Amino acid sequence: MAKKIVAGNWKMNKNLQEGIELAQGLNEALAADKPNCDVIICTPFIHLAKVSEIINHDVINLGAENCADKASGAYTGEVSAEMVKSTGAEYVILGHSERREYYNETPEILKEKVDLALANGLKILFCIGESLEQREANEQNAVVKAELEGSVFHLSAEQFANIVIAYEPIWAIGTGKTATAEQAEEIHAYIRSVVAEKYGAEVAANTSILYGGSCKASNAPELFAKPDIDGGLIGGASLKVADFKGIIDAWK
Ligand code: 13P
Repeated sequence: MAKKIVAGNWKMNKNLQEGIELAQGLNEALAADKPNCDVIICTPFIHLAKVSEIINHDVINLGAENCADKASGAYTGEVSAEMVKSTGAEYVILGHSERREYYNETPEILKEKVDLALANGLKILFCIGESLEQREANEQNAVVKAELEGSVFHLSAEQFANIVIAYEPIWAIGTGKTATAEQAEEIHAYIRSVVAEKYGAEVAANTSILYGGSCKASNAPELFAKPDIDGGLIGGASLKVADFKGIIDAWK
């Protein structure tokens, strides 16, 4: 069975003090009311070390939103997978559409990042998803398959066990437009079939596939009720304790 997960992606929000406050608030809320799923918060790099000290890692896992495609050295401004791991973080988001689009991250660059993250003992939230144009041309299946083939399908089955897939249709990110539960389930089932083709049915059944894109407490129960949706990767609604907790509670 795939793990059920609710993960937050803070993106470029919250200064250090605000981030600490949010992490503390979530930690308290989940100590008082234990979640029925794994919870991950992915924060900007500068928050990681401090947030790692604050949270109960048995209840909340910590992740970064990115890491470098180089191991170490003269790469001014970059943060390596090893550095991320040394903060106490357990995860890293890779392949987010915002990084693919605004920072020109290609499948080859992402493959390097994937390898370095795994070599340093991080688990990966690997994002895939089509644009509106691609969906209108009915290319979504080909797009997500190519994204997997381009950056994670070179892994062994053992390595692939450290990959969580996040399906995030670009047209649903931050737009308030959610994929319907049926639309999401259809492509999640396809993604699982592609993983099964590559790694076999057992690995596919054990792979968590999260939905992301305008997911909130009001639509999470319907999305999470689908057999191939194992949770969510949450942007905007991860920035307030009550909103994020509302989504976590969808697993109750
Ligand atoms: P929103 O939840 O703000 O639409 O963002 C989704 C996302 O991109 C998470 O990685």
